[in-house]
Amino acid sequence: MAINKNNRLKPLHCAYTAGTGGGKAVAVQYAGMMPKSPCLAMFDPYGDYVYKTGCEYDTGFAGKRTYHYATRAAFAEAFKNAWGSKKPFRIGYKPENPTRDEMLWFCNLMWLASDGHRRLDVVIEELAKWCDSTGKEQSSLGQCFTGGRKFGLVMHPVFQRSTEVPKTILAMSPYKIVGMQETLADATRMAKECGVDVQDILALEELTYIKKNPKLGDVEPFSLKHVFDD
Ligand SMILES: Nc1ncnc2c1ncn2[C@@H]1O[C@H](COP(=O)(O)OP(=O)(O)OP(=O)(O)O)[C@@H](O)[C@H]1O
Ligand SMILES: [Mg+2]
Repeated sequence: MAINKNNRLKPLHCAYTAGTGGGKAVAVQYAGMMPKSPCLAMFDPYGDYVYKTGCEYDTGFAGKRTYHYATRAAFAEAFKNAWGSKKPFRIGYKPENPTRDEMLWFCNLMWLASDGHRRLDVVIEELAKWCDSTGKEQSSLGQCFTGGRKFGLVMHPVFQRSTEVPKTILAMSPYKIVGMQETLADATRMAKECGVDVQDILALEELTYIKKNPKLGDVEPFSLKHVFDD
């Protein structure tokens, strides 16, 4: 059960949206929304944050070691141990056959583990794939967004197209990191969400972003191109 409700906790959920290759995974790791030493659980069905020793590409999370698990039992056990240790960790659930059901199971586990005395960061990759409506999200996913704040959950949903995700996700994420968009509909949607001109969104390119802060009109452009400078 979610424990130690604390109404004073601020909503810190941050949504990341860009077309493929726009730099969502890079932003999740380097845009500064993640604590340096996080308690971090990821629904990572495509293994974007897998760590392989000596590998140029699979560099974990911001270069730090991650651990991935393919079954519910293995992930739940690893998560229980990691969260119980009170130490920072970065672990991923990477089911062999990713489905909405798997995502909801993962979210339910996060909700049950949440504790208003401790921050738990939760990444959900390719969120739109696991959603079947753009209306209100009443599931364990929705619960993490609407009720999670008071129990220390910080959600990091990642998706390519904002027009394909439930409105709960955008409405409950006071921080939004917007990269290069693929369709005019998505660009228009994010321009409206951020309170900027659609031209500002259309001008974004790979690894450049606009960050929307909680206050309406508070936006800042930034670039992460330097991450891969040698
Ligand atoms: N290890 C790396 N070395 C060099 N460049 C990289 C590396 N990882 C990512 N990039 C660059 O950053 C860009 C964005 O990658 P990222 O994985 O963040 O995209 P994404 O938005 O998550 O895409 P997708 O929707 O396909 O998952 C890539 O197109 C690539 O140019
Ligand atoms: Mg990605």
